[in-house]
Formats: sequence, C-alpha cells, structure tokens
Amino acid sequence: MASVPETKLSDTDSSDAGSSFIDYFSEVFSPVNLIISAIICVFLYKIYSKFTKVPVDTPALELPKIRKDMTVSELRQYDGNQPDGRVLVAVNGWIFDVTRGRRFYGPGGPYAAFGGKDASRGLATFSVTSSDKEYDDLSDLNSIEMDSVKEWEAQFREKYELVGRLLKPGEEPRNYSDEEPEETDTSTNTPVEEKKEQ
Ligand code: HEM
Repeated sequence: MASVPETKLSDTDSSDAGSSFIDYFSEVFSPVNLIISAIICVFLYKIYSKFTKVPVDTPALELPKIRKDMTVSELRQYDGNQPDGRVLVAVNGWIFDVTRGRRFYGPGGPYAAFGGKDASRGLATFSVTSSDKEYDDLSDLNSIEMDSVKEWEAQFREKYELVGRLLKPGEEPRNYSDEEPEETDTSTNTPVEEKKEQ
C-alpha cells in the first residue's frame, strides 16, 4: 500500500533531478558568475605579480625604432638580457618591439619565455612556452588555434611597433631604408643591413 505513492515520488524525482541539474549548471556558468571568475583571476594574477620578482618599475626605455626582417636566431638576441634591454617577440610571422611591455616579456616577467622568440605556438595553445626550432611554420595547428594566433597578432599590432617579418630559412630580408625618415634616423641601433643600403 505504501509503495504506490513512493513510486510516484521517485518518477517525479528523476525528471526534477534532470531539470534541476540544468538549472544548477546554467546558474553556475551564468554570465555573471563567469565575469566574477574572470575578475578573481585578474585579482589573483595581480597578487601573484606582486610576490614574484617582476621588474614592475623598469624605467621607460626610449630606444630608437628598428625596422628589420630577422631570422629566428637573430631574433633570439632580443630577449631583454642585452645592455639596451630591447625585447622583441614574433607572432604569426611578424616581429614586434615589445620593449614597453618589458615587465611581461623581459627577464623575470611572467611571459619571459616569449622574449626574443616566436610566441605563435605558445599563444595558440595557451601555454607560456616557446620552441627552439629554427623556424616553426605552424602548419599543424588547427583552425581554432590559427584564429587565436591571428587575434593575438591583431592585439600586438595595436599595442606594439612592428619591426619586420620573421624570415623563413632561405628567405631574404626586405629593404626598409626608404620607408619613413625616422626609421633611418638611428645611431647605434641601426641594423647593419639598413646602413649598408643608405
Ligand atoms: C590563470 C592564468 C592567467 C592569468 C590570471 C593571466 C592574467 C593576465 C593579465 C591580468 C594580463 C594583463 C596584464 C596587464 O595588462 O596589466 C595578461 C596579459 C597577457 N597574458 Fe595572461 N594570464 C594567464 C595566463 C596566460 C597564458 C597561459 C598565456 C599564454 C598563452 C598568457 C598570455 C598573455 C599575454 C601575451 C598577455 C599580454 C601582455 C601584453 O599586454 O603584451 N596569459 N594576462
């Protein structure tokens, strides 16, 4: 006798359980919660940065602008450890001068692994690592990863000065000497190739 209402109850329970799980899921992953989580992440990152030895007070470095195509091994020299402290990073075949973002990419920064390197693969796969390959053609990345690389490239274009192309093996550097006057108006940091062509 008592088993009849019990059966009814458990039927109702299972359909309720399904909908309450969906309710629970959509509540947990609601836009508000996702925004709050993002804010917490940023906050934790700020705390993390304070307790790691990031050179936050690096003086603004006013270095002469450079315009030059480089090979992967030439790019490697610009990891911020050289006397002028210049930092270059390549994304999707383009090299950017990220010296103003030295606290990120310079020695001791959270993204120092990208300094003087091709960061494309790391950015695409959300991993702060860089390869020591001579040239990475990224041909094995899927379309989502490639879209992500392109988005990063667009962000770097907005924020940083463009230096030139990352040269594939055997590719010749372009001549930028007749582009803009200020780009050739450099003293010590003018690349040898540009000086030869002036
Ligand atoms: C929990 C993990 C992470 C947190 C909390 C975090 C947090 C942040 C924050 C707060 C900024 C902006 C800093 C500012 O403008 O003051 C930033 C920038 C950046 N993050 Fe992350 N990040 C994380 C993981 C990663 C990973 C895995 C990568 C590598 C793919 C990455 C790459 C970058 C890059 C390239 C920038 C731009 C720096 C610039 O403006 O040049 N981040 N991150």
